[in-house]
Amino acid sequence: MLKIDIITVFPEILESPFSHSIIHRALEKKLTEIRIYNLRDFTSDRYKSVDDYPYGGGAGMVMKIEPVYKALKSISNGVNVNEVIYTTPDGEPFTQPIANYLSTCQHIIILCGHYKGIDQRIRDHAITREISIGDYVLSGGELAAAVITDAVVRLIPGVLGDETSALTDTFQDGLLAPPVYTRPANFNGWKVPDILLSGDQSGIDQWRMEQSMEKTKKLRPDLWKKMEDHEDRE
Ligand code: ADE
Repeated sequence: MLKIDIITVFPEILESPFSHSIIHRALEKKLTEIRIYNLRDFTSDRYKSVDDYPYGGGAGMVMKIEPVYKALKSISNGVNVNEVIYTTPDGEPFTQPIANYLSTCQHIIILCGHYKGIDQRIRDHAITREISIGDYVLSGGELAAAVITDAVVRLIPGVLGDETSALTDTFQDGLLAPPVYTRPANFNGWKVPDILLSGDQSGIDQWRMEQSMEKTKKLRPDLWKKMEDHEDRE
């Protein structure tokens, strides 16, 4: 079972994302375990300080080594941790293949970045993976940790009702998902494409594939090019 431990200075931010819907059900069914740790609980000074001024001067505060080191040591407690992830805008861009990989792990730790960043020595010696959820700057790494956790937990077998549905997600095959429709078939003249009402399953599959390809070409030419380059290599 995948255990996800999240270290943060704002544990409250992480309460809601895991208390509803699919992730909540996964926790109830014990298909995963998510624990939130307050970094301040690992401080040893009177002020519970987790940050300090940067050497060399400059704006902003830097997350200190000691509390983070203590938290990591206490959480891993000698057992094998697959990945120690640090959420940061200068990390590797988060993608579906990374989510797929993380969903196969046994134990991951996510350290939420804050302030101007963390003392580089923690990044050099204790972090195994640095992840960004996009090219923009959030006020902290908590929302990024929630995004990563959500994307990973829904992939754990048994979490989604229909076992196959994660396989047809956008990105899972490098393409955007095709459009979907439900009743009524005609809403004030807005009609569902005829093919979906035809009962011709292979025609429907083909239509969906074509729609996926058209959508990807139009909206995400970068993804389309990656697919073409990949096919050229095979
Ligand atoms: N912390 C602040 N911005 C972030 C981002 N884009 N991704 C991950 N962590 C962050």
